[in-house]
Amino acid sequence: MSIPTQTTRSADLFARAVKVLPGGVSRNAVLRNPHPLYVDHAQGCRIVDVEGVSRIDCANNMASLIHGHADPDMIQAVTTQLAKGTAFNMGTEVEIEYAEYLLSRNAGFDQLRFVNSGTEALMLAIKASRAFTDRPMIAKAEGAYHGAYDYVEVSQTPNPTTWGDADRPAGVPLVSGTPESAINDVVVFPYNNIEKAIALLNQHADKLACVVLDLMPHRVGLNPADPDFVRAIRDWTTENGVLLVIDEVITFRSTYQGLQEQYGIHADLTAMGKMIGGGFPIGAVAGNADIMDVLNPKSKRYLYPHSGTFSGNPISITAGMVAMKRFNKDSVDRLNRLAKRAAGGIEAAIQETGIAASVTGVGSMFRVHMKPQAPTNYREAYLTPDEASKLNVLLDHMFDEGFVLINTCSFALSTPMNEAEIDALVSAFKSGFQRIVSES
Ligand SMILES: Cc1ncc(COP(=O)(O)O)c(C=O)c1O
Repeated sequence: MSIPTQTTRSADLFARAVKVLPGGVSRNAVLRNPHPLYVDHAQGCRIVDVEGVSRIDCANNMASLIHGHADPDMIQAVTTQLAKGTAFNMGTEVEIEYAEYLLSRNAGFDQLRFVNSGTEALMLAIKASRAFTDRPMIAKAEGAYHGAYDYVEVSQTPNPTTWGDADRPAGVPLVSGTPESAINDVVVFPYNNIEKAIALLNQHADKLACVVLDLMPHRVGLNPADPDFVRAIRDWTTENGVLLVIDEVITFRSTYQGLQEQYGIHADLTAMGKMIGGGFPIGAVAGNADIMDVLNPKSKRYLYPHSGTFSGNPISITAGMVAMKRFNKDSVDRLNRLAKRAAGGIEAAIQETGIAASVTGVGSMFRVHMKPQAPTNYREAYLTPDEASKLNVLLDHMFDEGFVLINTCSFALSTPMNEAEIDALVSAFKSGFQRIVSES
């Protein structure tokens, strides 16, 4: 049965929202046509809108709710902490305990600093790299999303009219008025292309502070990086005294230690965020003690005075610790098995229906592309108008069938899900594919 998406209460709320919020939203990710739907409440893997329609939430606030919504353990821990205070100009024991716990998950992490978002974690990692190397430039992959900071926004969403030569991608600002100096201090390299990426890095080797790398960048296609490419970047950065910053804001969920473990490497600095806050805002940077020392006011190598009013606040820290301790090895494996079942089922549905589509992803996140070949870089992942219109049909179909996905047609599973939800997801995809095939 199809669930109506044009509903009165949400339409009314949107009419109010557009008067006070630009575009009616606080973040573009919630936009839908003709208007966003508004949430009444959510529990576990289900989210109920203000019309009373319940859907299975496969977006999980952009992959940040590893245990779904309103988890009883989180409610209890946070409620206890709320009654004791929410933020102080003094330290808390729980902040130390959580740092100890996160560091214990990956042998490459010596020390850690908490911040308030993934964006802040990337900012901190980049500035610490600049301080440590005394160099200004950074390098990043074309199309990779690393949050809202001038430098990492360069070439976040280039298009065929702006992106230039594939071997030497243009530095394209996200926002009009971005200083030329910021654009010129970013080397943009093509993802998964060892020869071209290394050639570009070589041109700026003595000015580069760090290479920022996501091992499975969502907007580059949510396809795990080619291991040879990752190894080449790790080796090149080590040989040239350039730091390797790995953005695990999303991918830390993929294995108990984070996705870098699967590649057998350690970053110099690792940025984290999303799920490590247990549903509350957080970010963190973990890394090598030598480098982290630039943040230490008691060190001779103190070069980076860093603060943040809500950094390490005990609400995000308490929720994060409960969430991550419960997301133990068994829990990671179970969720990854469920995701494999989903991806396998969707791949089978692609075969059976004959649609030109593919699936990418690893761990507990997957993405469906309206392309027969799974993309390996941003330009391959870029949608043609025909692919974009098919994807919109598919997303609307999934929504009507009762599934909330990330609007790139990606899904991030949560631990309250079981086989029943996964099998229902697969059959909704199958009927969506059938519809597109029969309409084209
Ligand atoms: C890979 C990656 N890095 C950084 C960020 C920024 O995180 P936040 O939205 O918490 O600032 C995101 C957010 O989606 C992300 O996906």
